[in-house]
Amino acid sequence: MNRLSGKTALITGAGSGIGRVIAHKFGEEGAAVVCADIKGFEETAKEIADAGGKAIGVELDVSKLDSWKKAYDLTVHEFGAVDALVNVAGIPEAADILDLEEADFDKMMNVNLKGVFFGMKTVLPHFVEKSAGKIVNIASLAAHVGLTKLPSYSASKGGVVSMTRQVAMDYAGKNIQINAVSPGIIETPILANISAEMKKQFTDATPANRLGRPDEIASMVLFLCSDESDFITGQAMIVDGGWGSQ
Ligand SMILES: NC(=O)c1ccc[n+]([C@@H]2O[C@H](COP(=O)([O-])OP(=O)(O)OC[C@H]3O[C@@H](n4cnc5c(N)ncnc54)[C@H](O)[C@@H]3O)[C@@H](O)[C@H]2O)c1
Repeated sequence: MNRLSGKTALITGAGSGIGRVIAHKFGEEGAAVVCADIKGFEETAKEIADAGGKAIGVELDVSKLDSWKKAYDLTVHEFGAVDALVNVAGIPEAADILDLEEADFDKMMNVNLKGVFFGMKTVLPHFVEKSAGKIVNIASLAAHVGLTKLPSYSASKGGVVSMTRQVAMDYAGKNIQINAVSPGIIETPILANISAEMKKQFTDATPANRLGRPDEIASMVLFLCSDESDFITGQAMIVDGGWGSQ
């Protein structure tokens, strides 16, 4: 407990799934949590506050730079500063490349990749000023291995991993650590529409013989936002029950 005591964390995608569970874990560990999303953010913030934690909900569309500015200003107004940014917001896909429309490709890039760019661009000047800060970008196993029917999603997450590694190099000397976490298949609302057969295929493809839980991603993110990981930067931590290691 209290591994994030005295810290403020801004978490995108906090209205659902992995982001919501990260927000809860951070609240339990003593952080002031800014739950940012286009929906569900108030509910998550209320749950954390009801459990005795410190949290606010903030509306943030990660694909819009002015929305980031508003969310950042509100955070500073409420809690004084941001110490950690966790970019979780993302949208899914299930399409063959031949059926993928240009507008869908653009939307994927705007949310999954440009959203991470805008987030880092928003907090980094402040992290540089105080010579401290942590950023964790949620990528995906799809950035590391070939999965089916995910052309723009895989490209966006591959971009997240590359951008994380690159930006981490530019800021490593300023005591700022920037890492990615690449989840395998995790039980969240994003999987709500997949068939039982597809779920079985995912489970069979995972050496651990089960799907992952959001708290297993949250544990890695917590470690990467705590002082325990101060010598780790530019990495993509794959949390996938062994799928990518085969
Ligand atoms: N669940 C998995 O198996 C899995 C695997 C690998 C990677 N991921 C990644 O983990 C992250 C979270 O996924 P999840 O499974 O919790 O899904 P989810 O759908 O439960 O949560 C995603 C959240 O992102 C929010 N969001 C979407 N567009 C947004 C925008 N423009 N601005 C702000 N918020 C926005 C949604 O409102 C939602 O609350 C995503 O980046 C996803 O790609 C998930």
